[in-house]
Amino acid sequence: MARDILDIIHSRRSTRSFTDQKPGREQIDLLLEAAIWAPSGSNNQSWLFTAIRNTEIISKMNELIRQGFKTWIPDDDYPAKLGAKEHSQRPEFHFCNYAPVLIIASNKPNYENAMADCSLALENIFLVAESLGLGSCYINSPHWLRNDPGLRDFLFTLGIPREHTICNTAAIGFIEKPSAPPARKPGTIRVVD
Ligand SMILES: Cc1cc2nc3c(=O)[nH]c(=O)nc-3n(C[C@H](O)[C@H](O)[C@H](O)COP(=O)(O)O)c2cc1C
Repeated sequence: MARDILDIIHSRRSTRSFTDQKPGREQIDLLLEAAIWAPSGSNNQSWLFTAIRNTEIISKMNELIRQGFKTWIPDDDYPAKLGAKEHSQRPEFHFCNYAPVLIIASNKPNYENAMADCSLALENIFLVAESLGLGSCYINSPHWLRNDPGLRDFLFTLGIPREHTICNTAAIGFIEKPSAPPARKPGTIRVVD
């Protein structure tokens, strides 16, 4: 029986520890279907979702991201960016925590709602993943390195157009270690009648 949508929203967590088991092709197809049924500005649907189920390709991306971080200069002082740049040079670094599947959401450049559209699609992916018993996590580093020539050349070989902007990526796989639910901060909801 389908689980209640609010139950799925509550139980979804960002997974950072995956088993080696690869989700089936049918499961990935459901995630991609959920992605393309997200709303989009003016019904643009100008996005592209590229699911990678090949561990060698993900490892190659990890190497390119590690290389890219060496010379990348963050454009602001968001602590996660500085932390990722530093962490990327450690031997244990893996940009998507060894997830067996990665979904890359890209979109047309210079489109005002590119990021919003892809982010709504990503949440659809996360919620359907949860409903299928899969873990998921938003991964930012490919977006930060979206203009890195080495990474872009490689993504081009995977069919991601050079002109596309890389909006966000979803790590997907079976959960090895569940994440604890972070408490909700108080005072972030209001109703004005
Ligand atoms: C825009 C955005 C970027 C994020 N980037 C990353 C990331 O690069 N790596 C990561 O492990 N988690 C990332 N996350 C996941 C958040 O850390 C996570 O959602 C938050 O800690 C709350 O935990 P929960 O998702 O389990 O509720 C990101 C989430 C969002 C919304």
